[in-house]
Amino acid sequence: MGKDKVKSPHVLLFPLPLQGPVNCMLKLAELLALNGLQCTFLNTDYIQNCLLKHTHVQSRFDNYPEFRFEAIPDGLPEDHPRTGDKFLDVANGIQEVMKPIFVEMLTSGKLSSKSSSPVSFVIADGFYSFAVDLAKEIGIPLMYFETISPCALWTFFCLPRLIELGEVPFKEEDYDRKVSGVPGTKNFLRGRDLPSFFRISDLNHPIIQFILKEIQEIPRSQGLLLNTSENIDGPIISQISTLCPNIYNIGPLHSLHKSILLSAQKASSHTSSSNSLWEDDKSCMTWLDAQPQKSVIYVSIGSIAVMTVDQLMELWHGIVNSGKRFLWALRPGSIAGKDSKYAIPAELSDATKERGCIVSWVFQEEVLAHPAIGLFLTHSGWNSTLESLVEGVPMICWPYIVDQQVISRFVQEVWKVGIDMKDNCDRILIEKTVREIMEDRKDEFEKSSSVMAKLAGQSVADQGGSSHHNFNRLLKDIRAMSV
Ligand code: UDX
Repeated sequence: MGKDKVKSPHVLLFPLPLQGPVNCMLKLAELLALNGLQCTFLNTDYIQNCLLKHTHVQSRFDNYPEFRFEAIPDGLPEDHPRTGDKFLDVANGIQEVMKPIFVEMLTSGKLSSKSSSPVSFVIADGFYSFAVDLAKEIGIPLMYFETISPCALWTFFCLPRLIELGEVPFKEEDYDRKVSGVPGTKNFLRGRDLPSFFRISDLNHPIIQFILKEIQEIPRSQGLLLNTSENIDGPIISQISTLCPNIYNIGPLHSLHKSILLSAQKASSHTSSSNSLWEDDKSCMTWLDAQPQKSVIYVSIGSIAVMTVDQLMELWHGIVNSGKRFLWALRPGSIAGKDSKYAIPAELSDATKERGCIVSWVFQEEVLAHPAIGLFLTHSGWNSTLESLVEGVPMICWPYIVDQQVISRFVQEVWKVGIDMKDNCDRILIEKTVREIMEDRKDEFEKSSSVMAKLAGQSVADQGGSSHHNFNRLLKDIRAMSV
């Protein structure tokens, strides 16, 4: 290794162990490595050994010799479910299991080897609120990367005010009442649009305490990275920056990643690579190639959401009754209480064969970019939403957990690129909503979606794109702070 490399900053990246956040952090890590920084990517054992080892993700980083993967336990047995509400069990292990090992990793020199210098900078998911104090004690600069949506993060920051105003916890009769405690959203944000956790009535619940701690610690870090851009989230960014002045808006990150790799001419081998923790089904792309333009509904509820068999049936009937073609990524384990063995309802069997393609996992970015896709029925995870915004695909939102309730409301009321079904999932509503977007208000949705796609595209342009500029500022600041 040359002298310069030894001197280059060594960044430790520590994502939340979920598909979306891992995806984001991997893209950021790749961009840092491409710019000559040494990177260590810290996964949980579960992500690293149960999921990542079965994919090609790690081999993609072979091109970056100063890149390494490390793993720590999340405190849960290997066979413990990590989807649905069970994901929150990971929070218990953060303090008790992950924190001490993380401390040991940073202080023991374990992360520096012959080929790398000691860690000089940490980028951690905002969920790891313990990390800021620790980094200060050790004397390493730390920035948080909040991979959830900034609109939901802003409601997290407003939680103390919402509690003070008596707007949280709220009762079922308050679901449709507008909330006043989230500046900038007073005209449209209702109780049911707040993050799913705010529906919990007990303010002492660990997740509420977790969020209160998180919002206290984030502003104490050296900076906050957000997966958005001024064009997409300007007003919300202004609100967050009253508390966190040093913000780096580097989104939509998957698009920035593509743009930077293209300019670095690594495009052929990298830009079409998926970061999926599960194997993508390639056959659906051939199926899509045979469908007319904008004729297909793409359906996916992301990596952790689960639904009941009844909800599955409502979705299925609604989609089939709309008469449209559909591609459904039906993730194994996404049906509550069952494994992937569900019976195709007899009355839907012919229509499903004629107009549908059901697979377990797809390369979603590529699917959404396909000209045959005309609508995305989504759980409104932040990455899925950004991927759809970038491709100008309108959405039907059926939010499940965490930030998704806020995102779905913003999709309908702020960006105007879809319809929010919120807590309702019945076949009649689904059929009606599909027809509304793909037929009755087709032109309106196509227009607003292409406006948003254009704005998102401008953010990542290498000439004058704000996210491009912010990424360069981030690189410069990491170098300056790592000295
Ligand atoms: C979790 C939370 O649920 C979400 O609210 C938060 O915003 C991020 O973390 P997740 O279920 O992982 O979300 O959803 P999302 O953020 O949308 O990320 C899913 C990722 O998986 C996307 O990048 C998407 O491209 C990818 N994906 C999904 C696939 O590649 N293939 C699929 O079949 C489905």
